[in-house]
Amino acid sequence: MIPQRVAAIYDPLYIPPKICHREKELQELQKILSDNNNNNLLIYGPSGIGKTVLSRYAVAALNKSESDFTPVFVNFCYKRFREIMYQINSSICDSAHLGLIPTGATLPELWNIFRRLRRSINNKLVIILDDVDENNQQIHRKILQESKELDITTIATAKVGYARKIRREYGTSLQPDFTLFLDLYSNTELMDITHQRVNLAFPSPVRPSIIRFLTDIVLEFDIGRPSTIIEILKRIYPISLRGVDILPLHIQEASSDIFTVHDEISMIDSLAQISLMTHLLLQKIARVFQKYLYEPYMSLNEIKKEYDLLYEELKVQTDSRELHESLKDLLRTGLLYQSHFEPDMFYIVVTPQKILEILDLTFDEKFE
Ligand SMILES: Nc1ncnc2c1ncn2[C@@H]1O[C@H](COP(=O)(O)OP(=O)(O)OP(=O)(O)O)[C@@H](O)[C@H]1O
Ligand SMILES: [Mg+2]
Repeated sequence: MIPQRVAAIYDPLYIPPKICHREKELQELQKILSDNNNNNLLIYGPSGIGKTVLSRYAVAALNKSESDFTPVFVNFCYKRFREIMYQINSSICDSAHLGLIPTGATLPELWNIFRRLRRSINNKLVIILDDVDENNQQIHRKILQESKELDITTIATAKVGYARKIRREYGTSLQPDFTLFLDLYSNTELMDITHQRVNLAFPSPVRPSIIRFLTDIVLEFDIGRPSTIIEILKRIYPISLRGVDILPLHIQEASSDIFTVHDEISMIDSLAQISLMTHLLLQKIARVFQKYLYEPYMSLNEIKKEYDLLYEELKVQTDSRELHESLKDLLRTGLLYQSHFEPDMFYIVVTPQKILEILDLTFDEKFE
C-alpha cells in the first residue's frame, strides 16, 4: 500500500479527510443516500471539479455509520458493458463466491448473475457509476431502467455536456430523481483546497505566498479546477521530497509544463508593441524577481520605485499616468500578471531569466 501522503498526490481515487467548501452539496447528498427510498442521482459539473471525490466521500461516510450497507464504486470511463458488469458483480459478492462468476460469461449471463446477487443480500445497495458518457450510455440506461425493481440507489457522475444529453435524450422514465450541480470554486475556496492538499502530502511546510502563487496561475490559465492544482503539485512533489524549499521558479517551471505559458515567438511579438520605457521597466522588474528567489509577487509600490529609479537614471521627469499606461501595456503582453487575490500584487509566469534573455534579444532589433 502506498503511504497516505504520497496517495494524496498520485492516487486519482484518494479521498481527503475533509471535502472543502461543499458542505451544502454534501448534506444534500447524504440526505438522499440515507433516504429509505431508492433514488437515482446525477452529479454533474466541469471536469476536475470534484464529482468523483464528493460521491466517494459521501458513500464512505455512510458506510462507516451504517452496517447494512453495500457500496459499489465503478468507473465507467473507457469500459465496456461486460467489464462494468464484471466489476459490479465482483464488488457485491465476497471473495469466496468470486469463483461463481465465470470469466467468459456473456452479457445476459452477467446481468442475471447481478440480479441474483442483488436478491441474495438484504443490504442497501448504492452504486456509484462514475463518469457516464456517450460510450457507456447503454449500460447506464439499463441500470436506471431496472434500479427500482432491483432496489438500488445510484449516483452517476457526468460532465456538463453529457448531463445535458441525459436531460434531452433519455426518456422521462430514465430521468434522475435528483440532480446536483457542482459549480466552480471561488478564488479563496480554491486556495483552501491547494492548502489542504499541500498540508496532507508535503513532508515540510510550503510558504503561503507560494500556495497563493500556484492558485493564482491556475485561476489565470485554467478555469480554476482542483485537478489542475494537483497536476502542478505532482510535478513539484519530488523536489519537496528531496528536502528542498519550493520556490516560485519551481512553480513557474511546473506550470509551463502544463500550460503554454508563452512560446518565444509570441513573447518577441508582444514585446515589439511596447515603448522603450516600458521595455526598460520590464527589465527592472525581471531583475527584482531574479533577486527575490523566494517571493513570487511584486507590489505596485515596489514597481513604482523601480519606475522612479529608471526615470532618475535617465534624468527625465516622471509622470504617474505613464506608469499606469506602462503597466497596462505589460499586462496586455501577458508577461506580467495581476493577482486574483490582491489587485496591487503582480507576478510573472515565465522565469525572470527567460524574460531578460528575450528582452535583450528584442532590444537590439527594436532600438538600434
Ligand atoms: N472540495 C474539495 N476538497 C478537497 N479536494 C477536492 C475538492 N474538490 C476536488 N478535489 C480534488 O480535486 C481532484 C479532482 O477531483 P475529481 O477527480 O473528483 O473531479 P471530477 O469532477 O470527478 O473530474 P472528472 O470530470 O475529470 O472525472 C481530486 O484530487 C480531488 O480530491
Ligand atoms: Mg471523476
